[in-house]
Amino acid sequence: MELITSVEQMQRRCLDERQAGNTISFVPTMGFLHQGHLSLLEEGRERGDLLVLSIFVNPAQFGVGEDFEEYPRDLQQDSRLAEQCGVDILFAPEVKQMYPAGYACYVDVERITEPLCGASRPGHFRGVSTVVNKLFNIVQPHVALFGCKDFQQLAVIRQMVSDLNMPVEIIGMPIVREPDGLAMSSRNVYLTPEQRLQALTLSAVLTQSRDRVRAGERDAKTLLAAARKQIDALPDARLDYLQICHQHSLEEVANVDEDSVMLLAVFVGDTRLIDNSYLLDVS
Ligand code: PAF
Repeated sequence: MELITSVEQMQRRCLDERQAGNTISFVPTMGFLHQGHLSLLEEGRERGDLLVLSIFVNPAQFGVGEDFEEYPRDLQQDSRLAEQCGVDILFAPEVKQMYPAGYACYVDVERITEPLCGASRPGHFRGVSTVVNKLFNIVQPHVALFGCKDFQQLAVIRQMVSDLNMPVEIIGMPIVREPDGLAMSSRNVYLTPEQRLQALTLSAVLTQSRDRVRAGERDAKTLLAAARKQIDALPDARLDYLQICHQHSLEEVANVDEDSVMLLAVFVGDTRLIDNSYLLDVS
C-alpha cells in the first residue's frame, strides 16, 4: 500500500491510473477506522481496479466548540487495517495541503441541508460537501462509497453530485452495528461503560418503532411520542432531534410509508450520536 500526503502527487497518480484505463474506487473517511469503514473498503475493492482510502479530519465540517481537536486519530492502526482490506493508496493530506493560506471556496447544497443535523450543526454540510468535492477532484474516482449511518450526509452528497454533474457513482452502504445494536462510530470511544449502555436505547428505539409499524401503526406523531419517551427516560441523554422524514426530501411526514426514515441524534453525556432506520420494509 502506498501512502500519499501531497495533493499534487495524488491527483497526478489518479490521472495516470485513469489514463491507463483503470477504474478508481474511493472511500473518503476521517480515519479511526471501524467495521463500518471496513465494509465500505470491502465493497470498494470489488468495484474498482484501484482502491483509494482517504483519511482527513476535515476542520471545515466542525463547528466552534465541537470535537475537531479531540477527534480520535490513529494513522498507524488505520494503515494496518487498510492494508488488510486491500487498499492500494492511502491518501492522508495535512490540513494546510487541503486548505492553504488564502483558501476561499465552498460548496453549499441548499434545502436538504437545513433540517436535522444541518439545523443543529450550522455549516457542517458546507464543510462536508466542500471537502468531498475537493477529494473527488483530487482522486477522480469512478465510484465512491459512503455509510448510511450519516443518512443526511449521503443525501447531500447525492444532491451535489447530481446538481454539479460530477461523473461519480455514489454507493450507500448499510449501517454496521455492534452485536448489541449500537451503530458503529469513531465517536463511540468517547462513551463511558455506563453511557454506552444508555446509548443502546437509540437502536432499540428504532427497532421498536419498526415493530410498531409492522404491527400496523402508521401515525408519525404516535411513533415519535413513544420513541421520545424512551430517550427522555435516560439519565445522561439529551435529545437533539427525532424525526420521521421522506428519504429523499428529508421533509417530515405525517404518515409512514416505504419512503419513511426515522432519524435521531442524541447527546449521551457530551457525545453526539446519530442513527436512523427505514420504518417499513420494502420487501
Ligand atoms: O463521513 C465522514 O467521515 C466525513 O464526513 C467525510 C465524508 C469523509 C467528509 O469529511
